[in-house]
Amino acid sequence: MDSILVRGNGELHGDIPIAGAKNACLTLMPATLLSDEPLTLTNAPRLSDIKTMTTLLQSLGAEVSSLQDGQVLAMSSHNINNHVADYDIVRKMRASILVLGPMLARYGHAVVSLPGGCAIGARPVDLHLKALEAMGAELELKDGYIHAKAPGGLKGGIVNFPLVSVGATENALMAATLAKGTTVLNNAAREPEIVDLAQCLRKMGAQIEGEGSSTITIQGVDRLNGATHPVVTDRIELGTYMLAPVFCGGEVTCLGGRMDLVAAFAEKLDEAGISVEETDKGLKVARRNGLIRAVDVTTAPFPGFPTDLQAQFMALMCIAEGTSKLEENIFENRFMHAPELIRMGADIEVHGGTATVTGVKQLKGAPVMATDLRASVSLILAGMAAEGETVVSRVYHLDRGYERVEEKLGAIGAHIERISGV
Ligand code: EPZ
Repeated sequence: MDSILVRGNGELHGDIPIAGAKNACLTLMPATLLSDEPLTLTNAPRLSDIKTMTTLLQSLGAEVSSLQDGQVLAMSSHNINNHVADYDIVRKMRASILVLGPMLARYGHAVVSLPGGCAIGARPVDLHLKALEAMGAELELKDGYIHAKAPGGLKGGIVNFPLVSVGATENALMAATLAKGTTVLNNAAREPEIVDLAQCLRKMGAQIEGEGSSTITIQGVDRLNGATHPVVTDRIELGTYMLAPVFCGGEVTCLGGRMDLVAAFAEKLDEAGISVEETDKGLKVARRNGLIRAVDVTTAPFPGFPTDLQAQFMALMCIAEGTSKLEENIFENRFMHAPELIRMGADIEVHGGTATVTGVKQLKGAPVMATDLRASVSLILAGMAAEGETVVSRVYHLDRGYERVEEKLGAIGAHIERISGV
């Protein structure tokens, strides 16, 4: 297993290219199952999760070609010959559940392994299943698999989500495009990745209104065509790299960054005394010798503060002036980066879903362990501001969501290298 070695850093200067969004690409890829014509995605991120989704789609009989060094995914589902999404693949990545809705809508049946939980929480899929049942699906759970049928095809229905779920909204949205009649999704997720999916489905001929709001209305159609669609910029990678110059000082422009993707996050940075400037190249963040003020954060569904940036922001609060409270409202166990940051000298107290962070003058480099995707990058950011060396182990977590992190940070002056493990 590889590790990343980071040394405390001087100022950072330069541009960081921001890739296409992992969490958009992972829902855009299964959309190929809705049509027998080619679906091509451009601006795709080069990540291990994308490779996992590629393997899953290919196991169903889809053709997926990765072109231009992985930035273009040319897909075709004219020859789906297997409707079982196997546990061996699904257990590696929860987003595999997103093949359920499209497969059921197009073929009238699907068998998908339950994804199981992960480090940050139980992460059930009951809302996905309830949404499909509201469209007439017959579901049975047997031997760890979801057996889904829709003999006469799915029918339009009213889906009332009791809580906001990104994945369940995506599954329902894709399924509804081919359902007979009208489907309304109430309390739908509003994330930019949902908007991106809706825009791609519309290019394929879907009839969708309201994406980005809490109510999405879909008029089912008989079939969908092919399309070519650029994956939206990754707002989580964007927010992560915006923090690099805040930790180390300097000035960095995140190329392709858009303020509308990270408004709540940028607002918190502003409160902390860090200004973000939108230029025609992207988002420019600079910190000279100003202090970082402690601010409180509560994670919430979009447009609130993203849970996927909570770990990175906690690392920043470890070197801020004062005490901040971070409330994690989306997942039940998303503070696993706290004990690792404490090993680096941070002052953090965790009680249930709230972490209280009191800033310290200086973090100290230490060997630490990545526990989940976003926690791993928060340790790298902390290591860049720490005195001495930090070695982050188990970086396979990192490679799931951040392409070539050592190249991107190294290019703006960070002292970072990958140590190949056995
Ligand atoms: C998506 O996960 C993202 N993953 C996550 O990013 C992100 O943290 C999350 O949305 C919230 O924004 C992808 O898009 C691939 P949810 P998802 O359904 O869809 C509960 C990353 O780091 N819930 O919005 O699985 C659930 O347990 C990853 O890139 C149910 O109870 O998240 C959680 O507490 C991590 N029943 C809350 O809802 C369900 O059927 C929100 O989950 C579904 C969800």
